[in-house]
Amino acid sequence: MKHPIHPILVHFPIATWFLATIADVTSLFTNEQVGWVAGVLLVIGITTALLAMVTGLIELGKIDQQSPAIKIANQHMILIMVSWSFYAVSLFMRLDGTRLEQPDLIAIALSIVGLIFLCIAGWMGGKLVYEYGIGVHSDKS
Ligand code: HEM
Repeated sequence: MKHPIHPILVHFPIATWFLATIADVTSLFTNEQVGWVAGVLLVIGITTALLAMVTGLIELGKIDQQSPAIKIANQHMILIMVSWSFYAVSLFMRLDGTRLEQPDLIAIALSIVGLIFLCIAGWMGGKLVYEYGIGVHSDKS
C-alpha cells in the first residue's frame, strides 16, 4: 500500500467519540434515548480506536528513532491512550451488565475530558503528517 491505513481508520473513533460527547451533554437536557445513543457511540469509538491503535503502532515503528518526530509520535500515542481510558471508564460507568443506563454527571464529565485529550492528540497527529511529513515522505526525516 502506497500510503498508511492509519489516517483512514482514525475517522471512526474521532467521529463517534465526538458525537458521543455531544450526545452526553445533550442528554442532560433531553430524554433517555440520547444517553443511550451516546453509549452505543462510545462502544463503536472504543472498538474502532483499537484498530486505529494497531495501525498507528505500525506507523510508529517506521519512524527513525533519531527523528525529532518520534517525540511527538510518542506524545500522540500516550494522549490517545489517555483519551481511550477516559471514554472506556465513562462507558463502564453507564453499564448495568450489558445494558446501557442513562449516564450520570461523572460519566458525562469523563466523556468531556476524553474529548479534550482526543483533540490535543489529533492535533499532534496532524503535526506528524503536515509538519514532519510522517506517512507522506519516503525519507521520514
Ligand atoms: C497506539 C496508538 C497510536 C499510535 C502509535 C499512532 C501513531 C500515529 C502516527 C505515526 C501518525 C502519523 C502517520 C500517519 O498518519 O499514519 C499518526 C497520525 C494521526 N493519528 Fe495516530 N496513532 C495512534 C492512535 C490513534 C488513534 C486511536 C487516533 C484517533 C482516535 C489517532 C488519530 C490520528 C490522527 C488524526 C492523525 C493525523 C492523520 C492525518 O492528518 O492524516 N491515532 N498517528
